Amino acid sequence: MEERLLSAVLRPEDEESERALRPRRLKDFIGQEKVKESLAVFIHAARARGEALDHVLLFGPPGLGKTTLAGIIAAELGVNLRVTSGPAIERPGDLAAILTNLSPGDILFIDEIHRLSRAVEEILYPAMEDFALDIVIGKGPGARSLRLTLPRFTLIGATTRAGLITSPLRDRFGIILRLDYYQVEELVQIVTRSARILGIATEPEGALEIARRSRGTPRVANRLLKRVRDYAQVKAQGVITGPVAQAALTFLGVDALGLDHTDRKLLRIIIEKFNGGPVGLETLAAATGEEAGTLEDVFEPYLMQAGLLARTPRGRMATPAAYRHLGLPPRQRCDQQSLW
Ligand SMILES: Nc1ncnc2c1ncn2[C@@H]1O[C@H](COP(=O)(O)OP(=O)(O)O)[C@@H](O)[C@H]1O
Ligand SMILES: [Mg+2]
Repeated sequence: MEERLLSAVLRPEDEESERALRPRRLKDFIGQEKVKESLAVFIHAARARGEALDHVLLFGPPGLGKTTLAGIIAAELGVNLRVTSGPAIERPGDLAAILTNLSPGDILFIDEIHRLSRAVEEILYPAMEDFALDIVIGKGPGARSLRLTLPRFTLIGATTRAGLITSPLRDRFGIILRLDYYQVEELVQIVTRSARILGIATEPEGALEIARRSRGTPRVANRLLKRVRDYAQVKAQGVITGPVAQAALTFLGVDALGLDHTDRKLLRIIIEKFNGGPVGLETLAAATGEEAGTLEDVFEPYLMQAGLLARTPRGRMATPAAYRHLGLPPRQRCDQQSLW
């Protein structure tokens, strides 16, 4: 798949600038008011009792602040943060090694926790519940099981796919928080803050234009800000005004709703090849040359959020708004679709 400017998924070249832009304390984290409010209460209570925080599961689409929040929770509690991910923990022994090296109160952050193997997950159950590690010594009839006590730690799990978390794992999280796409006004604040940190001259209308086209996602907003800055430097004396941002984003192929060429192609295929749908996911994958999983995880969430795509029991459909956005005449045949 071609590299997409608008992909919310973390890319290696984002990592350094994301570190600089990542809010470190809860008060600097913009938006997600309900999540912040709950966290503030739980953190306060844990601190007052001098206990480890309950295990926390963060879920929501990529780029909305899950990793950032894990760092903030550790900073607010004044404890160490140990970072790993589901795919990085290959064998049960890998997890056992991490767990036995934790200190009391530490936070273990497991990103993409839905990708843990079953064998690794089973180590996690007693660790989360009883702060215990069961290890088996020897093999066959002579094998013995030994229980090690672990320090009281907090597990923070993050996932983009809450539906893929097994229920025994989910049940062991005391705090489950869902992050949602950001409002435009919140993204304006995020863009303005990032511009200040990076020393980019940005007028409010410029920040608004970037925010509107950022697909509700801070990671995308920050990436667009940097690309618009390049454009402004070369073409407009470095200041991001409203018209400069508009021209830059159009130049970058990002349209008024924050769709790029690939999003538009996807909608166009549904409309032109399948008469607007419904079309099954696999058929759509074959027609677009993308993997079904990529369509589901990367393209569809925002198109649905923007009201351009609908998932129905019989497949994907382009909504009337998609026709309007692409400047196509509304569909002719109605064949009893509820959307029309
Ligand atoms: N609420 C927020 N306020 C300000 N910046 C944010 C916020 N949420 C995310 N960001 C920015 O977006 C980037 C991506 O966030 P991250 O926590 O890595 O997302 P996730 O882990 O959910 O994919 C971070 O580097 C940070 O700069
Ligand atoms: Mg992350």
